[in-house]
Amino acid sequence: MPISVKDRVIIVTGGVGELGSAMARRLVVEGAKVVLADVRDGTALESELNQIGVAKYVKTDVTQEADTCRMAEDTRQAFGRIDVLINNAGIYTGKPFEEITLEDWQQRMRVNLDGAFLCIKAVLPAMKTQQDGRIINVGSDTVWMGTPGLAHYLTSKAGLLGLTRALATELGPLGIKTAWISPTLLDTPGTRQAFTEETFDYILNHTPIGKFEKPDDVTGLVTFLCSKDAEFINGAAINIGGGISMH
Ligand SMILES: NC(=O)c1ccc[n+]([C@@H]2O[C@H](COP(=O)([O-])OP(=O)(O)OC[C@H]3O[C@@H](n4cnc5c(N)ncnc54)[C@H](O)[C@@H]3O)[C@@H](O)[C@H]2O)c1
Repeated sequence: MPISVKDRVIIVTGGVGELGSAMARRLVVEGAKVVLADVRDGTALESELNQIGVAKYVKTDVTQEADTCRMAEDTRQAFGRIDVLINNAGIYTGKPFEEITLEDWQQRMRVNLDGAFLCIKAVLPAMKTQQDGRIINVGSDTVWMGTPGLAHYLTSKAGLLGLTRALATELGPLGIKTAWISPTLLDTPGTRQAFTEETFDYILNHTPIGKFEKPDDVTGLVTFLCSKDAEFINGAAINIGGGISMH
């Protein structure tokens, strides 16, 4: 039997961004019903995806509990259930530790960590009723590498790994499984703007497979994790970075 996500109802937070839109597009192509939950306007992407399958944009600020509750409720109303939540919304830009203000620090925590917490809380009632669900938290290999210049970001992603593990044991008995995935630096217009040429050189020189990772390189793993074939993956931290880190 081929791996399938056909008719699976999947929420992608930050679904309008570079990685989120790549995941959403792939999942729609594979037959899933995808909710794009983003604070940024997603109506154009919604229309594009509805040409090839089923997608719905729900304007969502993941830091606002009322928004995350509406995200879950709109999804349930539109599609009857919630099979997967992908906590992908995030802010990754960095600066040296000494320059990070409390506001910078708190903003990373609010979006990258509190946002995931609120989204999980919001989908929990539906997943509990179904006695089935999957939460995918998008982490980062900076957690393994201690990458300089990203202390606030890295700490928020490490927190997400802790949450992934805590919920694996607490929600596993309810049929809700978790996973944390860690891409390396993606080669996108956004990261090209945010990081220096030296950073990209470092990544390339330390990636054993010798090429840059693109958003589309992550979508196969995510599709698998969204499928029923991933049933026994729970609390896992999965590297997807071409071997640059091997934890
Ligand atoms: N780009 C990389 O190199 C890289 C590497 C590893 C992990 N990641 C992680 O992948 C995820 C996606 O990154 P990306 O490269 O697509 O970035 P991106 O900036 O292109 O996309 C992030 C999306 O999140 C949305 N967002 C931001 N704050 C939000 C909020 N409060 N509520 C709802 N949506 C919000 C943005 O509008 C945007 O669409 C992030 O969690 C990032 O940390 C990225």
